[in-house]
Amino acid sequence: MKKKQFMTDNKNKISAVAKLIKESTMTVALTGAGISVESGIDPFRGEKGLWAKYNPEEYAYIDAFYENPAKVWQMLKELLAIIIFSKPNNGHVGLAQLEEMGYLSSIITQNVDGLHQAAGSRNVIEFHGNNRWLLCIECSNRYETDPDIIKNIPPRCECGGILRPDVVFFGEAIPQKAMVKAYANAKSCDVMLVIGTSAIVSPASEIPLVAKDSGAKIIEINPEPTPLTDQVANLTIYEKAGTTIPMIVSELKKKS
Ligand code: APR
Repeated sequence: MKKKQFMTDNKNKISAVAKLIKESTMTVALTGAGISVESGIDPFRGEKGLWAKYNPEEYAYIDAFYENPAKVWQMLKELLAIIIFSKPNNGHVGLAQLEEMGYLSSIITQNVDGLHQAAGSRNVIEFHGNNRWLLCIECSNRYETDPDIIKNIPPRCECGGILRPDVVFFGEAIPQKAMVKAYANAKSCDVMLVIGTSAIVSPASEIPLVAKDSGAKIIEINPEPTPLTDQVANLTIYEKAGTTIPMIVSELKKKS
């Protein structure tokens, strides 16, 4: 497609999305690693993804963590060193503005980087936990994550137990509160923005399907197609989140 036509198409799509959001009584966003790429955090999949460097079988499963916490902590330390100093980008800020303007009810995020809250979003459902806290696997004591605590890996609790991040490893259940809230939101929304997720990791990948089955319109923002694109999404904007979300905000400001 020629660049000019692509831009016109995108502009039309942005207007259509703004109109849908404006008419909706409840809009919810589901976000994935892609929204944080413009904050310097690599996604999980693809050439530059974390799983291209670290085999998830060896690093992402809870059994792998218990078998060799020091090994898994090498990856976690590298990831946390980036996350701790990362800042929200225009995509995160745009979603916070949508909430502030009364257009976004909640964000269900698969991300563990806390950047939605850092941008000012208040109603954030952390589906895969977060990296702000470390938990002792022996006594469940909690520590706030900071560069000092992860200097020596694996980090340890005062009791001597190994600490783990408060995230959901593969092989673990989604925190029940997050699960219940996310599904309730998916069932009641009439627009769902699906942003920066490959939509292949269950159960998060089922959230747009639940929303669609309950009658919601599904809007995808992703530079690449996903399994949702032709099957589930009513409309896909093939662009970066940090470019697209501010354009939707501007369009809504124009019309309000
Ligand atoms: N804006 C929007 N989307 C983007 C951008 C961007 N700037 N850059 C990349 N993307 C898209 C990619 O095209 C891809 O579809 O973001 C998606 C990222 O996909 P994944 O790396 O698979 O991340 P995610 O969907 O969040 O992964 C789900 O898998 O490993 C687990 O627990 C981990 O929560 C994670 C889950």
